[in-house]
Amino acid sequence: MRSVRVEPSILSADFGRLREQVKLVLDAGARMIHVDVMDGHFVPQITLGPVVLSSLREQADAAGAVLDVHLMIERPERHVAEFVKAGAHSVTVHAEATPHLAYATALVREGGAAVGVAINPATPIEAVAELGGELDLVLCMTINPGWAGQRLIEHTIEKTRRLRQLLPAHVALQVDGGVDVDTAPRCRQAGANLFVAGSAVFGSPDPAAAYLAIAAAAGAV
Ligand code: DX5
Ligand code: ZN
Repeated sequence: MRSVRVEPSILSADFGRLREQVKLVLDAGARMIHVDVMDGHFVPQITLGPVVLSSLREQADAAGAVLDVHLMIERPERHVAEFVKAGAHSVTVHAEATPHLAYATALVREGGAAVGVAINPATPIEAVAELGGELDLVLCMTINPGWAGQRLIEHTIEKTRRLRQLLPAHVALQVDGGVDVDTAPRCRQAGANLFVAGSAVFGSPDPAAAYLAIAAAAGAV
């Protein structure tokens, strides 16, 4: 988790050709695939659930890649076990989505997956201070969650820097939203090591080349 990685987000992929699209980025070297789950409550859109996640697991395993699941859903404690069972290697829940954050993260850990907590742009970094050391990753949202293709919100880069200072060294720091060849190096400089990129990868006519360009810009392995 503390390696420098670019994670293509399938939210911007063509779901009718999902396997093929994921193959493009796996063949280009991606070893983390970001899976965005939205419930129509925490964010307006509804995307996908455990059934789609489980359909990706065999393909990810064959490539030695992991499925990183970002739950943009209310009361994630009600669903995390299901996502772990369906094949998530890591599950990230939003601090804003439950009054029982420690319970939700404990359930992910019990299931055997890596644990993450995400915070929205307006949420202070202190929201992860108590749990920090027990987490595998913290996701600093660099956009308001809900849609791909938005511009990175500038102040979140400085926030990333403060989060890196707050968190113990073993905790990975992920950025998600508006990450591309220009913003990735700036987030890296601020201390992020995991870079989620949706439209910059799958919105490109050549997702493999786009992945490689962002990975090079971020200094990813
Ligand atoms: C949005 C999702 C992101 C999304 C990012 O709420 O969490 O993972 O795929 O898309 P881009 O990279 O286009 O901003
Ligand atoms: Zn995401």
